[in-house]
Amino acid sequence: ATEETLVLVKPDGVARGLTGEILARIEAKGYSLVDLRLVEPDRQRLERHYAEHAGKPFYEPLLEFMMSGPSVAIRVAGERVIEGFRSIAGTTDPTTAAPGTIRGDLGRDWGCRSQQNLVHGSDAPESAARELSIWFG
Ligand code: CMP
Repeated sequence: ATEETLVLVKPDGVARGLTGEILARIEAKGYSLVDLRLVEPDRQRLERHYAEHAGKPFYEPLLEFMMSGPSVAIRVAGERVIEGFRSIAGTTDPTTAAPGTIRGDLGRDWGCRSQQNLVHGSDAPESAARELSIWFG
């Protein structure tokens, strides 16, 4: 069945001018852009979004990074899009993500404590519904 997922172009992707490239890859894969907005999230919104990571060593640096500039939030639709977007995004660590993926082609480590990996994609239907309501209301 057709699904929806939340994609974020994170502050590093926006700051580096990679939003268009990332949108182009989503569209080239055949997924539909349903809604899109530029968001400067406050801490409360990020605490909700990243609730499952509270207390982990990377949590504070992650929130600081996500508050360092605007992100682009995108509602994306398509057949198996949750799995499909995570596939084109590549694995979490941008240094070793496979070439051909967004993170593998465009990402790398910059020596900072937060992992700056350009994009976020929901990992399951329940998290997609939860995250879409956090970013789009
Ligand atoms: P994201 O898909 O947004 O989900 C959790 C985020 O935490 C992840 O991408 C990274 O940006 C960030 N992160 C930082 N360090 C780690 C880590 N060691 N493991 C997983 N995620 C991390």
